[in-house]
Amino acid sequence: MQPDLQLTVREETANDAAAVDQVVQEAFGQRDEAEIVVRLRNRNELTLSLVAEVTAAGQQNSLMAGHIAFSPVTIAGQSGGQRWLGLAPVSVAPEFQRQGIGSQLIEAGLERCRGLGAELVVVLGEPGYYSRFGFEPASRFGLENCFGVDEPFRVLVLNGRPEDVPHGMVAYSPAVMGTDVDGTVSG
Ligand SMILES: CC(C)(COP(=O)(O)OP(=O)(O)OC[C@H]1O[C@@H](n2cnc3c(N)ncnc32)[C@H](O)[C@@H]1OP(=O)(O)O)[C@@H](O)C(=O)NCCC(=O)NCCS
Repeated sequence: MQPDLQLTVREETANDAAAVDQVVQEAFGQRDEAEIVVRLRNRNELTLSLVAEVTAAGQQNSLMAGHIAFSPVTIAGQSGGQRWLGLAPVSVAPEFQRQGIGSQLIEAGLERCRGLGAELVVVLGEPGYYSRFGFEPASRFGLENCFGVDEPFRVLVLNGRPEDVPHGMVAYSPAVMGTDVDGTVSG
């Protein structure tokens, strides 16, 4: 971060939806991930939604620089409520990337998930990036995924004993997968 910029990470409020939508779209350069956030919000499945705001020194107005979402996943067809969460998506606007904002969003998000009592968080992403935060290959814990990947599908145990992590197929919400109730892919 430039020294004259101040970063604030806070929970999304009702007024943030449009700015979140814009920052997610800008980060990915497409609508797909922004639509995931919209669907999660509409389904009331945003267990945790954090925004990162940047304020210039001496200024009142802040800019939305990033966002992170966590939502429930199922394991072996079982719902864990807030105990089992998926991290997706995490977004930093292009002009603010590589300044530590993504890392701060992930660290703050994981800390809050731990506070909510979440036992584990899964993520599908760049192994080298997510290993920085302690994510390990989920296959080591007997957790499967439907994406046909191994190393990129990762888990972080936040509460409880790693040996107590349930085994089986992890499924994200249809809001994340972009599937309708009949399993067809939308968008
Ligand atoms: C991925 C993303 C959230 C990271 O946020 P960020 O604020 O740029 O990241 P940070 O500044 O905290 O960390 C930067 C470091 O992470 C690494 N990094 C960032 N994105 C990476 C990626 N996709 N793969 C591997 N490494 C990555 C950088 O190499 C950099 O390493 P360095 O510090 O050694 O130079 C951001 O780049 C982004 O929004 N990208 C587009 C959307 C996306 O791919 N989201 C993740 C998938 S859900």
